[in-house]
Amino acid sequence: MYNSIIILLLVTFVHSFALPQTTKPDDGSEPGVLIGDLVKKITTPTGQTIANILLGTETAQSQDIGKAPSNGGVAGCKKSTDQCCIWYSISADLTNSFKGPSGRCNARARMAIRLGFHDAGTWSKTLAAAGKDFGGADGSLVLFNEITRQENRGLEVIVGLAKAMFQKYKGSGISMADLIQYAATHAVVTCPLGPRTRIFVGRKDATKAAPDGLLPSVNSDADTLINLFQDKTISPHALTALLGAHSTSQQFFTSPNLAKDFGKPQDTTPGVWDVSFYNETIQPNPAPKTFRFASDSVIAKDPRSSTEWNAFIGDQSHWNSDYAEAYVRLSLLGVNNINNLTECTKTLPKAQPTFKGSTEGLVDQKKLKRRNVEREESSSSGCTR
Ligand SMILES: *[C@@H]1O[C@H](CO)[C@@H](O)[C@H](O)[C@H]1NC(C)=O
Ligand SMILES: *[C@@H]1O[C@H](CO)[C@@H](O)[C@H](O)[C@H]1NC(C)=O
Repeated sequence: MYNSIIILLLVTFVHSFALPQTTKPDDGSEPGVLIGDLVKKITTPTGQTIANILLGTETAQSQDIGKAPSNGGVAGCKKSTDQCCIWYSISADLTNSFKGPSGRCNARARMAIRLGFHDAGTWSKTLAAAGKDFGGADGSLVLFNEITRQENRGLEVIVGLAKAMFQKYKGSGISMADLIQYAATHAVVTCPLGPRTRIFVGRKDATKAAPDGLLPSVNSDADTLINLFQDKTISPHALTALLGAHSTSQQFFTSPNLAKDFGKPQDTTPGVWDVSFYNETIQPNPAPKTFRFASDSVIAKDPRSSTEWNAFIGDQSHWNSDYAEAYVRLSLLGVNNINNLTECTKTLPKAQPTFKGSTEGLVDQKKLKRRNVEREESSSSGCTR
């Protein structure tokens, strides 16, 4: 009797998280494929969890909050049996770096999101099959000085922060690859309304620079962009969800009129992880004081992605769910020890599912006087520039 009540409760509990997920993506496209070592064999419970997320049968978000050990930090965590111990300290440092005075996420948080994309995005299924199975989420952007590549302009400040934090924490056994993906995931949940995406650690660091030419350009047409991402196992549906990160970005190097458009965001609420980006991008003209990337417009219109694009308008929880799922995939590209990873989601800050100021619009832009931007923010956040 009691047993059946407990089972019933468990089933209800599991369902309340699992219901929005279906094995068939809601745009009618095929479910995702496995990646890395999971293709050969799923050998661990964490491997199984990640496989479920990649195939869309388990949620990619979690509100599980752990308790930071009272005697943590670099010294304390050496004695801890909690493999996530040090990430509580890293999480606290990142919160200090990423949270703006108004409760929004700041320019550094937005750069960290872009850094996560640009490190992980340098993996290709075709190249891997041809013997070049490297690149991806391996820390190479920072470790092998890929900051000198044209597409990484504007990431200097966040690369500096990643180096400083790695110096502080590498003795605790973390990898640069993990630090970059952890920071990108942390930054998203630091933005009001952002999803709390599950984070796994244990990635190995790069032994060489990533292959070049695998990141998207703002001037690409839809075919080029969709093919580029499909070659990373990222479907048009998932690409549409990932592009929403432009909800929090700003352009610094894309516009032909740099002085006029300097620092302009891609929607009117750059410090908030909201869906206004999707609606604003399909309007005939960009909202005042915003700058629109050509690549966003072509994906908004293409028949392979437009249904999904429109479905995100006014539907925050749909976007958050799809973004989290797509980001878990992106953050594991090129990772070939997925079975051996450890979930440390419990160390992330709490999500902020509501935000009082989210409709007050242009406040962040008052800071966008050129002089101030150079002093305080000095960098770019558009993930495709
Ligand atoms: C989308 O934007 C248009 C133009 O600003 C507005 O009229 C419409 O209400 C918005 N739709 C949603 C769902 O927010
Ligand atoms: C995973 O961990 C096991 C046990 O520690 C080890 O034998 C194996 O080599 C690891 N696999 C990878 C791909 O790192």
